[in-house]
Formats: sequence, structure tokens, C-alpha cells
Amino acid sequence: MKQVLTLFLLTYAVYANYSFEPSETCKECHPSIYKEFTSTQHAKASIFDDEIHAAVWKKHPKNTKLESYACAKCHTPAASNIEELVKTNNGVVPDANSSTQREGISCAYCHRIEFIKHDRMMNMNVISKEEKSYFGSLKEHIESPFHKIKTNSAHFNSGNVCIGCHSHKKNKYDMNVCSTNVKYELERDNCVSCHMPKVKGSVSNLHETKEHTFHGFPGTHVHQDMLSQYVELNLKENTNTFDVIIENKSTHALSLHPMRVMQVRTRITREGKTIELPNRNFARVIGANGKPTPPWLAKEVVKDTAVKGNEKRVLSYNYTLQKGDKVEVSIGYYLVNPKMLKGLGLEKSEVATKFHLFKTKSFEIKK
Ligand code: HEC
Ligand code: HEC
Ligand code: HEC
Ligand code: HEC
Ligand code: HEC
Repeated sequence: MKQVLTLFLLTYAVYANYSFEPSETCKECHPSIYKEFTSTQHAKASIFDDEIHAAVWKKHPKNTKLESYACAKCHTPAASNIEELVKTNNGVVPDANSSTQREGISCAYCHRIEFIKHDRMMNMNVISKEEKSYFGSLKEHIESPFHKIKTNSAHFNSGNVCIGCHSHKKNKYDMNVCSTNVKYELERDNCVSCHMPKVKGSVSNLHETKEHTFHGFPGTHVHQDMLSQYVELNLKENTNTFDVIIENKSTHALSLHPMRVMQVRTRITREGKTIELPNRNFARVIGANGKPTPPWLAKEVVKDTAVKGNEKRVLSYNYTLQKGDKVEVSIGYYLVNPKMLKGLGLEKSEVATKFHLFKTKSFEIKK
């Protein structure tokens, strides 16, 4: 048994230099899917296409001390030299001229994930060695003149394929830095049903279908509007106070990445005048000795006010509402906590400093 296990590790525990068809090849026959994909963080996950990732990498000890771009395992997994990239001190660093590094999480990479190896620090994607042969979950399909199709529905439409990179990531202090789904709960709504809904338009231009799976991966950077249905905002009036209720219908915390801050803004319009109530912030702050630190130094959760998966959070406001008042509640977030901007040199970055509005709801007071 021990021998089998060692053998398994030897076969799979390395990041091998596979070759993947570039995503642009898929454009010819899957134009809608390709177009959606190019707008996403998956397509822009390398340090050369994501300024927030680049800013963190600039400060990271694996960069400044070890020259190991270990981030490649999830951020540029289709790199043709991934084995060398993730090794320490061999002089191989990310290269803006490498087209395979700029591919990010490419079409062919994702569609060649055969199974997920669960592990303590982070999970791992095991890639099928068969080039130009893609896993999918279509119930019916024609043959493709370009590639083979292997059906693996349970793995693809359940979201299992996502958790090689998204389930959890620990640092050297055994601290879970970021996690979407540690318990592998994939029933009911899952990553794919929420983040890859069915939309109008054909799967390919060789075989007309009414709909295809949306590949724009709505998240916190793009297509947020497609996710707003999973967060409900409600208002409850009390005698001298009122409550705003946030109902998170998603299975993971809101604004779950440790750099994010979610903000709730509430304002009241009474007789033409607008009163802004103090903003409320929500975040999971990680650090050490009670103070925030970068993820690689974190040993504990310093403060966690993030709205958890399937949680109903009640925010009370000490304010007496009157008939005719209009209450407007907005929920949104900063991709980078404003307190971290200076340390990361991101004060001038538009995407990092902008307040990204997620959902707004208005309530008329009729009592
Ligand atoms: C186990 C997989 C994994 C590894 C390894 C990994 N990341 Fe990530 N990273 C992710 C995922 C998944 C997201 C998206 C999470 C989200 O949006 O909540 C992400 C998002 C980020 C973001 C936010 C980007 C943005 O534009 O908002 C930063 C910054 C980041 N990672 C930095 C790094 C750095 C630096 C490294 C290497 C030292 C690294 N990551 C290694 C999986 C990984
Ligand atoms: C020459 C045309 C052509 C090219 C190029 C092409 N495909 Fe396809 N692909 C098809 C056709 C046709 C189908 C079947 C569609 C149908 O029956 O509706 C298909 C189906 C698929 C499926 C569906 C599998 C399933 O059962 O869910 C996947 C995944 C896929 N292609 C991935 C890719 C990727 C990734 C690329 C680029 C690396 C690519 N394709 C390039 C023609 C092409
Ligand atoms: C090879 C690793 C990998 C796999 C597999 C993967 N992701 Fe990601 N995902 C990432 C990384 C890395 C990021 C962040 C990239 C960045 O911002 O630099 C990300 C970002 C995202 C985001 C945030 C987008 C935004 O606008 O903020 C969503 C949503 C997402 N992934 C959903 C999924 C889903 C659903 C699946 C499965 C179908 C999946 N991912 C599979 C690595 C992966
Ligand atoms: C019931 C719907 C639902 C399910 C299931 C779901 N999500 Fe989400 N997800 C959301 C919503 C809503 C948001 C945007 C709200 C936010 O994070 O502020 C989001 C945001 C995200 C983000 C961006 C977070 C950030 O801080 O940048 C990532 C990454 C992500 N989801 C990945 C996943 C993965 C991976 C799974 C499966 C393990 C999953 N989601 C399951 C609804 C869902
Ligand atoms: C992060 C992983 C990921 C990436 C990147 C990705 N796909 Fe997919 N793709 C999926 C999943 C998961 C499904 C299955 C969805 C379902 O079953 O509902 C899918 C379904 C498909 C299908 C089947 C038809 C359909 O509409 O359901 C085709 C074709 C396809 N993808 C092509 C592509 C092409 C082309 C690209 C790049 C332009 C791409 N995919 C990028 C995960 C990915």
C-alpha cells in the first residue's frame, strides 16, 4: 500500500510541462464562448494582465527571496515551463513575452482537468495527458472535426472541476488564507450553476443549439449583475429603529478574498433632503498578534465580519423612520481594502480603488 501511495505521488505531485492548444484556436468554432471568456479574470490571471495580482507578487517573499513563481499552479497553469517556474532560485521568472503564461487559465487547460487530488495545503488538478481531447457535460453533441470529446458530467456540471484551485489555500503556518469550499459541498446550487448559467446562443457554429454555458465567469470584477439574485436586501421597521437584512443565498462568504472589503451604504430621502447614514464595512481580516499582515505572515483570523455562506445578517440602525421616507440600501465592495493600497503601491489603480456597486434596493415607508 505504501509503495502504491509513493508511486501515485511520484506520478502526480509534480507540475508537468504539458502543451495546451491556445484559447484563440477555439474562437473559430466557439465564437460566443470565446468572446465571453476573454473578458474574465481566468483569461487575465497572470501578473502581466492583473495589476492587483502583480502588486501582491511584487512584495511576496517567494519573489523577493526565492524567485519561485509558485502562484503559477493556479494563475498561469498552462505555462509551457511551469515546472521551472515553480522551482526556487533557478533564474526562471514570469515572462511577459511567453504566450503560454499569458493564456492564464485557458480553455484547453480547464477542459483537460481529469480529476482533483485533495490535499492539505491546496488541492491539485490532475491533467489528462491526451492533447486535443476535452472533457465536457453535453447530453448530446455532434463530433468535433478538431478535437475529441470525453463526457464527464459529474465532474463538470457539479463544480468539482473548480475546486482544484478554489477550495482552499494554506500558508506555512497552516492558516487557511482563502477558501470557497473546504467541505466539498457540491449539492444543490454549485459553482457551475451560479457562476456558469445557461444563456442564449449556440455552443458552436457547426451545430446550432439554442443555448450554451456562459463562460464570462461572473465574480467581483465582471458581470456582477448576473450574481445579484443570490443576495437579498430587505428592510424591517421597528418603533424607533430599523433593520437592514442581508440574505446571502450563496454557499460561500461574500467578498471572500482576504483583500476585499464589502460595504453597505444606507441613505434616507425625506422631504427632498438626503441623509447618509454611516457606512458599514465587512471583511475577513487575517494577521498575527492581533494585527493585520500580508497573507504569507498570517497566523490567525484577526477579525471576521464577512457575511458567511447562507447567512442572514441583520444590521440595526438607530434611526426613526417616518411615513414618506425613501430608504436606499446599496451593497458593494472594494477589491483591495483601502488600508492596503499604499503598502501595495496601488493608490492610482482604478480597479483597486473603485467602489464596485453590487446591488441597490429602495424601500418606500408607508406606515
Ligand atoms: C491554490 C490556487 C492558488 C494559488 C497557488 C495562488 N492563488 Fe491567487 N487566487 C486564486 C483564486 C482561486 C483567486 C480568486 C479568488 C477570489 O476572487 O476570491 C485568486 C486571486 C488572487 C488575487 C486577487 C486578484 C484580483 O484581481 O482581485 C491576488 C492578488 C492573488 N490571487 C495573489 C496570489 C499570489 C501573489 C500568489 C502566489 C504567491 C497566488 N495568488 C497563488 C488561487 C490561487
Ligand atoms: C473546427 C471546429 C472546432 C474547434 C476549432 C474547436 N471545437 Fe470544440 N467543439 C466543436 C464541435 C462541433 C462541438 C460539438 C458541439 C455540439 O454538438 O453542439 C464541440 C464541443 C466542444 C466541447 C463540449 C464537450 C461536451 O460534451 O460538453 C468542449 C469542451 C470543447 N468543444 C472545447 C473546445 C476547446 C477548448 C477548443 C479550443 C482549444 C475547441 N473546442 C475548438 C468544434 C470545434
Ligand atoms: C487552474 C485554476 C483554476 C480553476 C480550475 C478555476 N479557477 Fe476560477 N479563478 C482562478 C484564479 C487564479 C482566479 C483569479 C484570477 C485573478 O484575478 O488574477 C479565479 C477567479 C475566479 C472568479 C472571480 C472572477 C471575478 O470577476 O472576480 C470566479 C467567479 C471563478 N474563478 C469561478 C470559477 C469556476 C466556476 C470554476 C470551475 C468551472 C473555476 N473558477 C475554475 C483559478 C481557477
Ligand atoms: C448560490 C450561488 C453561488 C454558489 C453556489 C457559488 N457562488 Fe461564488 N459567488 C456568488 C455570489 C453572489 C458572488 C458575489 C458576491 C461577493 O462575493 O461579493 C460570488 C463570488 C465568487 C467569487 C469572487 C469572490 C471575490 O472576493 O473576488 C469567486 C472566486 C467565487 N464566487 C467562486 C465560487 C466557487 C469556486 C464556487 C463553488 C465551490 C462558488 N463560487 C459557489 C454566488 C455563488
Ligand atoms: C475554469 C474552467 C473553464 C474554462 C477556462 C473554460 N471552460 Fe468550457 N466549460 C467549463 C465547464 C465547467 C463546463 C460545463 C458546464 C455545465 O455542465 O453546465 C463547460 C462547458 C463547455 C462547453 C460545452 C457546451 C456548453 O455550452 O455547455 C464548451 C463547448 C466549452 N466549455 C468550451 C470552452 C471554450 C472554447 C473555452 C475558452 C474560450 C472554455 N470552454 C473555457 C469550464 C471551463
